Amino acid sequence: MIMKRVVFNQKGGVGKTSITCNLAAIDASLGRKTLVIDLDVQGNTTHYLVGEIDAEAFPAEAQGVSGLFKQTVGSRRMSRNPDAFVWETPYENLFLMPSSPLLSELERELEARYKIYKLRDALIKLEDEYDRVYIDTPPNFNFYSKSALIAANSVLIPFDCDSFARQSLYALMDNIAELQEDHNEDLVVEGIVINQFNSQARLPGELVAELEDEGYPVIPTFLNSSVKMKESHYQHRPLIDLAPSHKLTQQYLELHAALDKG
Ligand SMILES: Nc1ncnc2c1ncn2[C@@H]1O[C@H](COP(=O)(O)OP(=O)(O)O)[C@@H](O)[C@H]1O
Ligand SMILES: [Mg+2]
Repeated sequence: MIMKRVVFNQKGGVGKTSITCNLAAIDASLGRKTLVIDLDVQGNTTHYLVGEIDAEAFPAEAQGVSGLFKQTVGSRRMSRNPDAFVWETPYENLFLMPSSPLLSELERELEARYKIYKLRDALIKLEDEYDRVYIDTPPNFNFYSKSALIAANSVLIPFDCDSFARQSLYALMDNIAELQEDHNEDLVVEGIVINQFNSQARLPGELVAELEDEGYPVIPTFLNSSVKMKESHYQHRPLIDLAPSHKLTQQYLELHAALDKG
């Protein structure tokens, strides 16, 4: 089975989008055909990887994740292969199933009609097409993030070294455990990714040490805070493309290698 990795935390601004896109871009740079799925209605991943979208050229209802989900409600006759909803990106081997504003309108109907397994089914159909799948999630435990946690076989949890983020980790781990039990026993918690780490300050180190003491699966390769990340988003260029020798890129490569080893 191919690696299908979801990046999830109910808290916003912890680095879900940055980690999804940068790990995926590293896989693509290594020659692996990599699909990124943007399940966040805000579309930050979509924007990061392909920039501004011409809404007229790409009508939202026919596109990306919303197109994929939309065809699961109503008539089955016109059903398209999930690959029909995938876009190319400017990067070799890197593909995107983009987000759309329609996701929020669709959510209630999808939930009412119990479409929670549809993403999993779609990804099974795509297993021969791609070597890696990454799923970016909204900052909520909602229909889309649950769909992702059901469709994936691994979950990474970004943590931004803030005490509020720590508070919400308990609830987060409980939610994941419940989902594993109810829907997806194959889902492996690969670990907590320490993001925006500042080794100069006292608090981040203390927070991380406490998590480790409490038995949380903290991944020992930390990602530092750097303005390069903002620049990377702004320029729509993942770090491996924008700044391959930058310290943060090197940390991403280390993290990627550590995950690859398993
Ligand atoms: N390692 C980092 N150093 C500095 N800024 C970062 C880092 N990782 C993420 N950011 C910034 O923090 C903000 C939130 O990151 P993002 O990946 O969008 O989080 P999420 O998807 O969880 O909301 C963005 O402005 C991003 O540029
Ligand atoms: Mg995001």
